[in-house]
Amino acid sequence: MTSRRSIDRNGCAITIVDIDKHHCIEPWLQTMTAATPSLRYVVGDAMAFLQADSDDYDVLYFSGFTPEEARRGEMQANELRRLARRIGLHLARVTKAPPPSWPDDGAPFGPFVTEAIRRGLRTGGLFMSQSYESGVALTQNPHYLDCVKSQLHGLGVELIAYYTFEFPWTNVALAVGIKGDREAARAFERVLDARPELRTFHGRSAVATGIVIHRVTC
Ligand SMILES: C[S@@+](CC[C@H](N)C(=O)[O-])C[C@H]1O[C@@H](n2cnc3c(N)ncnc32)[C@H](O)[C@@H]1O
Repeated sequence: MTSRRSIDRNGCAITIVDIDKHHCIEPWLQTMTAATPSLRYVVGDAMAFLQADSDDYDVLYFSGFTPEEARRGEMQANELRRLARRIGLHLARVTKAPPPSWPDDGAPFGPFVTEAIRRGLRTGGLFMSQSYESGVALTQNPHYLDCVKSQLHGLGVELIAYYTFEFPWTNVALAVGIKGDREAARAFERVLDARPELRTFHGRSAVATGIVIHRVTC
């Protein structure tokens, strides 16, 4: 922004463009233009203005212009993410193990699952969650199972079994638990033990043949 005093003093023709998102600039600009005919203002998107305007200007002045600032901010965030990824990959090469991808104490289940357990599952009821997208590889994240156990435990569910497909299909997983205490969980575990071992799960997974399933007993 330029003060009226400096416009008056220099007698420049000035065009000010701003979307005036908070509707606070225009009233001030109105008083300015009334007193200073060489000043014009446009309330609107700067890009739309540039595309419609055919004038040439001697001076272009951007001050705290959000779209440019946001773009630079995003580029820096992307670059930092890219660097973090490269460092992670480098670390994985040196240690010969992929870096963990799950936060140390990240909660595996979101608000839909937690709300459903809290409100919709009776005591003694069976909880099952199978997933094939954005799965977490246990080989890379051995702590993930503890995250599953501890979050479910906090919701009154004891984890009984956690099945995963082997590499490279580690994203496919099935968690099974009982809403109740450890005793109820053990009783159901015995039921599972007496049954044939699960050989496949998740019909939507495109990898149903030749897959080894791990049952991680809990
Ligand atoms: C952080 S404020 C800066 C205000 C003032 N120019 C300064 O330097 O202190 C960002 C300004 O950019 C304006 N702005 C954001 N997007 C715009 C767009 N697409 N076209 C024109 N102005 C925009 C906002 O309305 C706001 O006035």
